[in-house]
Formats: sequence, C-alpha cells, structure tokens
Amino acid sequence: MRRSVSFSIAFVLFLLPLLLGLVETTSPNPDIAPEGSFTEAAPAHFVRGPTVNLVTNSSALIFWRTDVPMNATVDYGLEKLNLNLTVSNSTVVGDHRITLTGLAVGSRYYYQVTSSGTASDVYHFKTAPADGTEFKMIVFGDNRPATDTAPVQPQEYSDLVDLVVAEEPHIVIMTGDYVLGVTDDHSHNLDAWERFTNITDRLGHYAPIYGVLGNHDTSAYTGTLRLEYFFDAFEMYDEPSPYFSFDYAGVHFTLLNSEEQYIEGRITGAQYDWLVDDLTNTTNSMKFVFAHQPLYPLRHIRSALDRNMTEMKRLQQLFEDKNVTLFAAGHDHLFDRLTVNGVVHIITGGAGAPLYSTPWGGAFYHYLKVDVRSGQVNFTAIDLSSVVREQYQLPYDGPIEIEGRFLANNSMKRNGTLPQLYFSEIPAEVLYSWDGGSNSTTLTGFPDEPDEHTLDVYASDSESLWSHERFVFNTYNPDWPTPTTSTATPTDTTFNGYPPPMDFVLVLGIVGVVAAVVVVVILVRLKRK
Ligand SMILES: [Fe+2]
Repeated sequence: MRRSVSFSIAFVLFLLPLLLGLVETTSPNPDIAPEGSFTEAAPAHFVRGPTVNLVTNSSALIFWRTDVPMNATVDYGLEKLNLNLTVSNSTVVGDHRITLTGLAVGSRYYYQVTSSGTASDVYHFKTAPADGTEFKMIVFGDNRPATDTAPVQPQEYSDLVDLVVAEEPHIVIMTGDYVLGVTDDHSHNLDAWERFTNITDRLGHYAPIYGVLGNHDTSAYTGTLRLEYFFDAFEMYDEPSPYFSFDYAGVHFTLLNSEEQYIEGRITGAQYDWLVDDLTNTTNSMKFVFAHQPLYPLRHIRSALDRNMTEMKRLQQLFEDKNVTLFAAGHDHLFDRLTVNGVVHIITGGAGAPLYSTPWGGAFYHYLKVDVRSGQVNFTAIDLSSVVREQYQLPYDGPIEIEGRFLANNSMKRNGTLPQLYFSEIPAEVLYSWDGGSNSTTLTGFPDEPDEHTLDVYASDSESLWSHERFVFNTYNPDWPTPTTSTATPTDTTFNGYPPPMDFVLVLGIVGVVAAVVVVVILVRLKRK
C-alpha cells in the first residue's frame, strides 16, 4: 500500500510539468471562452489592441501597438481555421495600422496579427451590411471613474463591456467622459487613459468603436485642449477632428463636439455651419447624430446644449428640417428617451460613472442597443443584469406623447414662468387647463398662488386622436425637488478594475486536474491489489 502511494505521488510529479506546459502553450480562444469571461491577456509586447476600426462594407483598419518597434502582419479570412489572406508591413514601428481591402459585404472575418513572431489571439468582426439592411449598434458612455486619486475604471464599465461583446454588435458609439480629467501631469493622463483602453480594447477586438469628446476628456477649460489622449484612444480618419461624419449601411452618422473651447456646451459657429452642410449633403434618409451633451438634460438643466436656448431651438429645428432620426448623448448619468417633433432624443450616460437621481428616473447602469432594419429602428436599454428596462420603436404609430419638464435645477419653476412641454409629433391642436379650469389654446405660466397646482394638457394628431397628460406642480417651493447625486460607487475593485489575473484561474484549474489524477491513480492501484 505504501509503495502504491509513493508510486502515485511520483506519477503526479511526473505529470505536473506536462500539465503546466500544456496550459501555458494553449492560447485562450475568445470563441469558446465562457460568456462574460474575457480574461485573455495581450501577448508579450502588445500594449494596445489589436482593434478593428473604420469598418466599411469592403474594408477595415486593424490597429495594434507594440512596446518596441516591430514589423506587422495581419492574417485573415472567412473561416477561423483558414486565415488564407495576408497583409504585411515590413517597416519596423510601434503603432501598427494595416488596412484590409476587398472584403465581402456583410461578412464575418477572422483575423490574427503578428509582430516579429509574436501572434495575437484570433478575433473576428463583421463588415458593414448592404445599405438598408439589418445591423446592430450599441451606444453607451459616461464610464469615467468616480475619483481621480486613483483613476480606476468602474467595475460596472468592465461588466458592461463584457455584455456588449456578447451582443456581437456591428458598430459601437461612445458618448464621452471616458476619464475623469486630463491634467498637466502626463504620466497621470497616460495611466488614466490606459486603464480606459485596456478595458475598451476588449470590445475593440470585435467591433469598430467611435467616440465623441466629453467635457472630462479635455482640459479645454484651463486653456490647453490635450486632445492627443482622446485621439489616441479612438482611431480617427486621416485628419483627426472631434467632429466628423461617415456613412454606414445606408445610415449617415454625425459625431459632434459639444466641448469646443470657449464655446463649451454649444453647437455654433463653424461647427454648426459644417453640420448644416453635412446633414444637407447626405443622401441617406436615416441620420444618427451624437454629442456628449444633450439638448434636453434631466440633471444638467441649463448646463448642457440648452444653456443657450436660442441655439438649442435652432439645433432642434435643424434636426426636424433634415429628418434626423436619432440624437444620442450622455453627460447625465442615466437613461432617458424623449421624442420631440419626431426626433428621438436619447440620453445614455450610464456606463459606470456615479448615477444621477432625478424626478424622471432612469438612474441605472446600462447600454443602449439599436437594431436597424429596412426603415425600422428598435431602441432597447439593457441594464447590468441583462434586463430590458426601456423599449421604443420607429416608426412610432401610437398617440402623441406629451412630456413635461420643470426647471428644477436652477429654481426656474417660479410663478409666472412657463413649464417646458414637448410633444412626440407636432400636434394638430393643443389645449391647456390649469387647476381643472377651462381649456385654453394658450399656455400660461404657473399660477400666482404659491400652492400645489395641476396642469392638464390635451394634444391631438392629424387623425384627431387625442392624448392627455396631467402634471402636478408645487409652486410654493421653487427649489423642490432638488436632484441629488447617488452614492453609487464601483462595487468590486478587488483586481483594480481589471479582470482577475489569468494565473489565478490557471492555478485553480491545475489543482483540480492534479486532484482528479491522484484519485484515479490510487483507485487503479487499489483495484490491481
Ligand atoms: Fe459630461
């Protein structure tokens, strides 16, 4: 018996190095990794990517960065086990950008990059489908850390990235505020942005990501823009600009910069002129526009694109005139959908930054899924538990939606001021009634008596279908209710915002395998006795 045990231990000691060798030489396969588990690390020398960028229906840019200058090769193909196409660049550099051309429309391509003998895992992406056909877009943003003392990305952001990878989107748009701030400390900025790209590149392996500039992503307020970190995080077109446009699958995408120096929170001047031309010249009937700051904020009231009401109304009118389908923004850390005269406004700022509580709700971590198919658009807000929290569909064929906003943030809800009312389409007729009184076609301000008041709003569409909404206002306290910031903080910083180290997973697996082998060997030996 003693000899049997000794033999077993010797057998295990013989087997252990083989097991270790097997594990160490096996590359994690993203296709067979458990859902939500993305623990694979970039190979040695790879400090960024690889990521897929600027994808069209026939081309894609593959980007990665090595810590020392190396050559570059991309092997790719339509089958994972047959990467039969190759593009190489023998120039020895650190930043590698290789454009794949001649790709098939609406197809999944697998790719692997190699620099000086070091190969990445095999990833995949989808080329843009034919114009007017189905594709899936994910929009999310405001993932910035809560504090700048150690700019750790929120665990919620890391978890959302895993969920978005599992969605296998064609394209991703991010709505800004990726870091808490950029300063004159270069090493701090590098650290903060690296923590962002380390997580974001896990999604960038599989889908092109475009981002708008957030107010926390630049130091424009202090006189120095420092856009180089933003431009480095997102692959841009030839002449990097914080505002630009492109076409994808028959949809026109316009990304705006709401953080222009000295005119922050405004779309005006040369950028507005450019926007007018951009929306006028496109031949695509469906148009998506993005910026960091919303037109109709719930928390940053009068400190978003509504700070200049004349310009805000001009922008809304432009969107209506040019038939803009969607305007999506962040800045408010919550989810909200408001349709104004046929233009869908969505605030999706719940990717990890501390949530904002407002009288209108929406304070949950989430991403927005947008399914586009032949003139139809489905919007779905999905939270961290994969629960669908909001859904909306275009074309919308329900009754007119009536939404009310009172200006809680800046104590504007005073006697004599007008409540803000919005209609999902331009109504054929509108009637207002304060405190159950007679209907009027003219909206008057809050009643003079400081008290609780009701406002009934009736609106009809072109088919004389009426909608009704009742709003209750307390005018005796102009500061009520004061929105408060939630105390939500990242729930798990055990691994400093990054996935658990691979070594930890390996050790657990090895211990399990060794234990199983010991049991089997002992049983076999006992049976022979
Ligand atoms: Fe912001």
